[in-house]
Amino acid sequence: MRVVSSLCFKRTETRDNTTLLRLLFFFSVLVSSSSCPDKCVCSTSTVKCVNQGLLEVPQPLPANTKTLHLTGNNISRLTDGSFPVPLELLTDLYLTGNQVELVDHNVFNNLPSLRLLDLSNNRILNFSAQAFPDDNKLLDLNLSRAFYNRTSMDEFFNMLRHDRALHLTHLDLSNNALVVLPEGTFSRLFNLTSLSLQNNSLIFIRNGTLSVPPLHELDLRDNALRELPNATLMDFSLKPGLRVYLSGNPWLCDCNIEDLVAWLKHSEQVADEQNVTCSDPDVMLRLPLLQIEHLKLECTFSGDMKGVLETSYVFLGMVLALIGVIFLLVLYLNRKGIKRWMYNIRDACRDHMEGYHYRYEINSDPRLANLSLNSDI
Ligand SMILES: *[C@@H]1O[C@H](CO)[C@@H](O)[C@H](O)[C@H]1NC(C)=O
Ligand SMILES: *[C@@H]1O[C@H](CO)[C@@H](O)[C@H](O)[C@H]1NC(C)=O
Ligand SMILES: *[C@@H]1O[C@H](CO)[C@@H](O)[C@H](O)[C@H]1NC(C)=O
Ligand SMILES: *[C@@H]1O[C@H](CO)[C@@H](O)[C@H](O)[C@H]1NC(C)=O
Ligand SMILES: *[C@@H]1O[C@H](CO)[C@@H](O)[C@H](O)[C@H]1NC(C)=O
Ligand SMILES: *[C@@H]1O[C@H](CO)[C@@H](O)[C@H](O)[C@H]1NC(C)=O
Ligand SMILES: *[C@@H]1O[C@H](CO)[C@@H](O)[C@H](O)[C@H]1NC(C)=O
Ligand SMILES: *[C@@H]1O[C@H](CO)[C@@H](O)[C@H](O)[C@H]1NC(C)=O
Ligand SMILES: *[C@@H]1O[C@H](CO)[C@@H](O)[C@H](O)[C@H]1NC(C)=O
Repeated sequence: MRVVSSLCFKRTETRDNTTLLRLLFFFSVLVSSSSCPDKCVCSTSTVKCVNQGLLEVPQPLPANTKTLHLTGNNISRLTDGSFPVPLELLTDLYLTGNQVELVDHNVFNNLPSLRLLDLSNNRILNFSAQAFPDDNKLLDLNLSRAFYNRTSMDEFFNMLRHDRALHLTHLDLSNNALVVLPEGTFSRLFNLTSLSLQNNSLIFIRNGTLSVPPLHELDLRDNALRELPNATLMDFSLKPGLRVYLSGNPWLCDCNIEDLVAWLKHSEQVADEQNVTCSDPDVMLRLPLLQIEHLKLECTFSGDMKGVLETSYVFLGMVLALIGVIFLLVLYLNRKGIKRWMYNIRDACRDHMEGYHYRYEINSDPRLANLSLNSDI
């Protein structure tokens, strides 16, 4: 305030226009650093600009902002200009439901304290691997239903593999139509304790994908998993305190699932084990894996299928050849009888044809047509 009054004093002395402008600018900066942007509600350190149809991050934001809610707007591009002024205290940022398409490089460079970022329910096409600064402190990242399609996640996975997200403890990747996790996706997330992959389309978990993070909670519900290999079960077993969710997958209950069933029965890590059920073969539909007895399991769809098929084709071929040989043999031995039989047939045919010929002549006689019709009835 002292600065302001001294400027006021100066102004009355010189009556200089430029000083007046400078004063106005200075005053507006003073006011804005503590005032609330248009369409926002501010309380102590929380700023809420929710469902306002905003097209950009509102400016300027109070310098003491710690939590910023920008949920339900229309901020489709996040660029290095989205946060032009450093917000040293900002820790929590919510950008849910903004149709975000671009997360460009250096977006979050001016948010050095950022801990929680919620980008769920967007349609990100382009997520730069340099979106976060090298020394970011991000712990909690929500990318549930955030990506446009699988291809648009590649850059993000690159970022995970390259030290930029080292501190992450919570990662939500649910609802993203993921089919496979690229190799080494989580191998540098040494502090990751909670990972949600729920409602993707994962068909398998590559060896070692989950071996590094010290997970406490892993959600694999509603994917397309048919089996879990021993190596993955071992990874799980090595994590004390882990809770895994496995229901809603189309488990294939043939002999290959024995290891999983045995593990389910003695492990206490599966939180929803009652709901882990078979979807193949049909006779076992919806049968809980826990109720399977080893004797029941058949290898109908076993990994050895190719070998089995090959053997059965060879066998079938041999049987057909044998039948063919026997047939030829019978023909040969019976050749006289067959000749006789064919003559008989020929004679029979000839007789038949003559009878037909005769009838045809009667029918074609118009005078007799009515007669023959009547006789048919
Ligand atoms: C969001 O903004 C785009 C222009 O950037 C506009 O075309 C679109 O209609 C807006 N959508 C909503 C729901 O406001
Ligand atoms: C993603 O962003 C980069 C750089 O900003 C650009 O070169 C590229 O064309 C973008 N890709 C898509 C699909 O928008
Ligand atoms: C991520 O966001 C979705 C939708 O906004 C929400 O349902 C989910 O609980 C969030 N995940 C976490 C781990 O907070
Ligand atoms: C994802 O979307 C982009 C842009 O529309 C397209 O070029 C790409 O082929 C899509 N990828 C998949 C796997 O659908
Ligand atoms: C992991 O967390 C511990 C404390 O829980 C911290 O000391 C360590 O620096 C973190 N490691 C990384 C890579 O963030
Ligand atoms: C699962 O994800 C798909 C998109 O991949 C989405 O359409 C569907 O609503 C999601 N289901 C649930 C229960 O969230
Ligand atoms: C996965 O690990 C198992 C045992 O550790 C090994 O037999 C198998 O070949 C591995 N598979 C791949 C794809 O690396
Ligand atoms: C899987 O692991 C169990 C126990 O560690 C072992 O008995 C079983 O033979 C293994 N199965 C395969 C296919 O390696
Ligand atoms: C199992 O599924 C039922 C019905 O879908 C649900 O109500 C129940 O909470 C589930 N149990 C567990 C442990 O997930």
